[in-house]
Amino acid sequence: MGRPLRKVSQDLIEQFLPSVTFDKTLIQDPHADFDQDAEELWLEIGFGGGEHLCGQARANPQVNFLGAEAFMNGIALMLRELLETGIENVRLWPEDVRPLLDSLPKESLSRVFLLFPDPWPKMRHHKRRFVNPKNLERLAYLMKPGAEFRLATDHSDYLEWMVEHMKASKDFTAQFDWDNLPTTRPEDWIPTRYETKALSQGVTCTYMTFKRL
Ligand SMILES: C[S@@+](CC[C@H](N)C(=O)[O-])C[C@H]1O[C@@H](n2cnc3c(N)ncnc32)[C@H](O)[C@@H]1O
Repeated sequence: MGRPLRKVSQDLIEQFLPSVTFDKTLIQDPHADFDQDAEELWLEIGFGGGEHLCGQARANPQVNFLGAEAFMNGIALMLRELLETGIENVRLWPEDVRPLLDSLPKESLSRVFLLFPDPWPKMRHHKRRFVNPKNLERLAYLMKPGAEFRLATDHSDYLEWMVEHMKASKDFTAQFDWDNLPTTRPEDWIPTRYETKALSQGVTCTYMTFKRL
């Protein structure tokens, strides 16, 4: 997927990825694949280059983290960061996140991050947008009551779509005022590569936090 991998990235994928890839045989008991038996499991969907996931894992060493990403160049960046920092509370799902969502146990997640998901701007591609009733229902099933869902975008049309779908969901409640959408990154949100690029081009980013009811 994406550009061909450089040799160094390919080496990282071949030599290091297997040791941090989530063991699918443990999907019904995901903490069993981590070195620590943590209280909480947090999931980042589409972690891109992994800067946010690594930052959160470092800031929250008592939490176990699952990161899903299908883009091999991003996974390679993430692997380099994991190797350099020695972070141990992260396991990767290096493919489409949807089979993971189909298989994790009910109420197994305490926090979910979906930061700058692909906007699929063309009308005929809107059905590919991750934020849709089916995925929201599935996330709600996987999240504990009171769990946090963080959602961000820099795309005005996708933002409207997100607002419409999140308002329609009976499973989530906004932690902000709908008439005043947050456009300043909260302090404990770590900037992502995609966001940094958008901000440098003068694009407004919106940062929404929801609670699972
Ligand atoms: C626009 S990028 C944003 C990346 C990162 N969150 C950031 O803010 O820099 C969206 C990412 O989601 C990933 N992605 C899209 N659909 C996915 C899926 N079904 N499963 C896993 N990753 C997915 C893409 O590969 C891409 O890296």
